[in-house]
Amino acid sequence: MKGVVFVLFEEFVVRNWGEATFEQLLDDCPHAAAEPFVSPKTYPDQWIVDLLTAACKRLAVAPEDALRAFGKFCFPGLAKRFPAFVKGMDSPRHLIESVNGIIHVEVRKLMDGAEPPSLLCQPVADDPNAIDVHYESRRGLCALMSGLLDGCAEHFSVPFQHTHTCCKQRGEPRCTFRVTFPALVPVHP
Ligand code: HEM
Repeated sequence: MKGVVFVLFEEFVVRNWGEATFEQLLDDCPHAAAEPFVSPKTYPDQWIVDLLTAACKRLAVAPEDALRAFGKFCFPGLAKRFPAFVKGMDSPRHLIESVNGIIHVEVRKLMDGAEPPSLLCQPVADDPNAIDVHYESRRGLCALMSGLLDGCAEHFSVPFQHTHTCCKQRGEPRCTFRVTFPALVPVHP
């Protein structure tokens, strides 16, 4: 996982629980604490899992809730670091539909060793306001995905809903999120 995710995790912990708590998490995960995290480096996926597990233990939070809250925190952090990907996007739907074909493609080119997930978007036959987003990643970070969707809704101030309709962790063939945007109100002359 790229260092930017670890740097954001540090910001997430420090902003919510303070510097001392982050230091405690590093004490709990000495293998991940040799040097400060930096964005361009790539660290083992397991380290973010270890840090998150340590945080959940110390703060008595459920892993799903912690990962989702972290995902929500990540969205503005990523948007700030990569403004070109968000500038010019007129809606959350536009942005979500551009992640797979543009944003994560560019991320792979810009950041050596980046392996962002595949997020294939499909229209929903009987609902023009909904899309199905198929999440494919060996990491299985569905709750982080949920949080990123929450963060995207907040960024655009568009209260769209999402439900996790299928999940590999529940034994289903793939992970799918049904994302439903508010209906556009027709403008009458
Ligand atoms: C400004 C927009 C975005 C940027 C710059 C961005 C960039 C990145 C980067 C750098 C990573 C780490 C990849 C790695 O370490 O290998 C990542 C991971 C991820 N991104 Fe994005 N992303 C953006 C938007 C989104 C959105 C809107 C979603 C979901 C709707 C999303 C879903 C994910 C997920 C779930 C991961 C975690 C890694 C995994 O599950 O394998 N991203 N993204």
